[in-house]
Order: sequence, then structure tokens, then C-alpha cells
Amino acid sequence: MVNSGEKVCIRGLRDVAAAETRISFVDPLGALYYAGYNIDDLIGKVCYEEIFHLLIHNKLPNKTELEALKTDLRSEMKLPDPILDSLRSTPKNCHPMEVLRTEVSRLGEYDENRDDNSEQANKKRATMLAAKVPAIVASFHRIRQNEKVLDPKEEYGLAENFLYLFRGKPLDAEEKDAMERYMILHADHGLNASTFAARVTASTFSDMYSAVTSAVGTLKGKLHGGASERVMHMLSEVPHLDDVEEYIQGMLFDRKRVMGFGHRIYLAEDPRSKHLKKISKALCQNEHRADLYAKCKKIQAVVHREKKIYPNVDFYAALVLNALDIHSEFFTPFFASSRISGWTAHILEQYADAVLIRPTSNYVGVYERNFVPIEER
Ligand code: SDX
Repeated sequence: MVNSGEKVCIRGLRDVAAAETRISFVDPLGALYYAGYNIDDLIGKVCYEEIFHLLIHNKLPNKTELEALKTDLRSEMKLPDPILDSLRSTPKNCHPMEVLRTEVSRLGEYDENRDDNSEQANKKRATMLAAKVPAIVASFHRIRQNEKVLDPKEEYGLAENFLYLFRGKPLDAEEKDAMERYMILHADHGLNASTFAARVTASTFSDMYSAVTSAVGTLKGKLHGGASERVMHMLSEVPHLDDVEEYIQGMLFDRKRVMGFGHRIYLAEDPRSKHLKKISKALCQNEHRADLYAKCKKIQAVVHREKKIYPNVDFYAALVLNALDIHSEFFTPFFASSRISGWTAHILEQYADAVLIRPTSNYVGVYERNFVPIEER
């Protein structure tokens, strides 16, 4: 007799709380809190390093702590030669998310302290990864363009250095502000799929590199961080503003998902989307980009009218990154370069929670099959 032990199966773990966290709260009614601070109260008032400190240490830094953190992050942005050599030998047609998945894993090979899984060692690793993930993204882009890999500038913070290392030219004031806000808005978001993947890996007491590699691979998917790259592809398929209605109606008729829209948690507009929409409007001043912004607004209106869903973080983020002259295949790596803060904070929290994440499943296969030796099969 088999005890099927049938359990209630919640596909996709929709509305299932799989952990308790102090790191961030996603309010379905359209608000996002980082360790108790509403992001609307933080944007424009703090730098990205302050958010990193808040997520990892559960408090905003004082001036001394902030300066020390900025110095640590800046020095950690320099990549070790074996990583640069690996980037140079990587096939140029690799997607940057594949490269990031590989190089994060490779960083673990050069961690002489890799067997120290103490909270102190892992907090140090979190800082190192928060610096090296964007540096890997920027360096791969430069190497693939056959351009010199640059060193971070002493006077820049992490967000500004990231875009400087990527593009090889200074940012103007508007770009610097946009990049800082972009990085702050992507830092953490509750138990999203990639963060959950990181926590599952950490729940086995596997190392931080393995947990972050799990997260990178998960974020890559088009239903998650991979959506932003596809938003630009969608915009390129809509020739003119007047074509938006027919294009979107066609997608919905074919029951296709419009990339950059909808969310598992939000019942109202994603609060990050409101900020990114404003940033993209300010950046999209030239004729071509103003046209892109107009198309996005029209897409938002049609999708909301037809499906009563809203843009998520990826929709206007695509426009912001495009306006910063970043190619769309780097959109998800830019997302990862900020979310590394949230991932490492959740990994630390999971280590402290010390419980194996292992759900069950309902077996729907057959039972008691009679074995037939291969000679008779
Ligand atoms: C991110 O979880 C996080 O917090 C993630 C994130 C973070 O910061 O970490 O916020 C970042 O990943 C944002 C999401 C990026 N992905 C996309 O933009 C891909 C397109 N979005 C959809 O695939 C979808 O909205 C999801 C995956 C985001 C959410 O999927 P759900 O919760 O499983 O919802 P669903 O697919 O079951 O849709 C529910 C209804 C359906 O209607 P019916 O078919 O039942 O009538 O809403 C409709 C869907 O048709 N719908 C959409 C839609 N999203 C939902 N219809 C058209 N286009 C869409 N994008």
C-alpha cells in the first residue's frame, strides 16, 4: 500500500511565504520598503552604497562607514588577472549573462579563504561581489569591443564608476543621477525567483559563490530579469506610434505576454516603474528617444486598458539603459549588478536562519510497475 500523502499543491508557490525576512517588503498595493524605509523616501537622497550597507547591515551608514565602504568597493572593482584572462578567451558571441554566470563561479576558485563560511567572511565576500559583478560586466563589454579595460576613478562612487568602466567616458550630471537611481531601484525585491534560488542554495550551506551563480542563472530568464532586453526588441518591432494598438492587440490575441508588464505581487503599479518612467522621460530628449518614450506610454495605456495590468521594473528600465547608450543584451547584467546587493543580503540571512529549504511534491505518476529485464524489453 503506498501512502500518497497528497498535499495541497501551490503551483509556482503563488502567495506562499517560504521565508521570513527583514531585508525588504513588497507591498502589493504598490510600495517597496528596504529594511523599513519606503524607497520613495530614499530615492534622490542616498547613494547606492548606502542601500548596500542598509541591506547587508540593516542600517544606513554614518559618514565614516560610508567612506570606508566606498573605498572598499572601489578597490574591489579591480579584477584579478585570471578573471581578465578568462574574459579575453571567452567567445565574443556569448551572452553577457552567460559570462557573468561563469565568472562569478570562477571568482570562488581564487578565494583563498573559501572554506571560511563565517558571517564576517561572508559579509566581506558580499562587498567583494558587489564590486566585482559590475566590473565583470563592464570589462567583458570593453574586451569584446577590443578596448582597454579601465581602472575605477578615485572620485567616483560605484554607480558612476560602473558606467564609466562600461562606456569609457565620463557621465554628465543627468546620467550620473539616472545611474544612481537605477542602481538603487534594482537592489532588492522580496523573495523574487532569483533571490529564492540563492536562498535555496544557501539553505544547504553551500558557499556564497554557488548561491550567487544560482541567482544569476535564474535572473537570466525572460519571465524575470531577462524581460528588459525583450522590451527593447518589442519596441524595435513597432515601427511607429500609430502601430502600437495593432501590435499589442495582436500579442494579446495570441495570448503572448507583453514583456515588462505584470507582476506576481503587485496589484497596483510597481513603485519602481513610476521612478524609472520619470527618469526615462528626462533622458529621452532627442527626437528618436522621445519617440521611444511616446511608444512606451502608448503601450502602457493599451495594456492597462485591455488587461488591467501595469508596467513592472523592466519596462521603463529598458528605456533608461537605452538612453545611457547601453546595448540591450547588457540590460539584465546591469540588473544583476545592482541585485547582487539583495542576493548577498538574503544569502547571509538564510545562513543565519539555518533551515534547509526542501518542499515536497505530489507524485502523479504510476505505481507498482513490474520490472522487465533488458533481454525481454
Ligand atoms: C521581474 O518577482 C519579482 O519581484 C521580480 C522582479 C524583481 O525585482 O525581482 O520584480 C523583476 O522579474 C519583473 C517581471 C519581469 N517579467 C516580465 O515582464 C515578463 C512578462 N510578465 C509576465 O510573464 C507575468 O506578469 C509575470 C511572470 C511577471 C508574473 O506572472 P504570474 O504572476 O504567474 O501571472 P500570470 O502569468 O499567471 O498572469 C495572470 C494574468 C493572466 O491572465 P489570464 O491568461 O489568466 O486571463 O495576467 C495576464 C495573464 O494573461 N498577464 C499578462 C502579462 N502578465 C500577466 N498578459 C499579457 N502580458 C503580460 N506581461
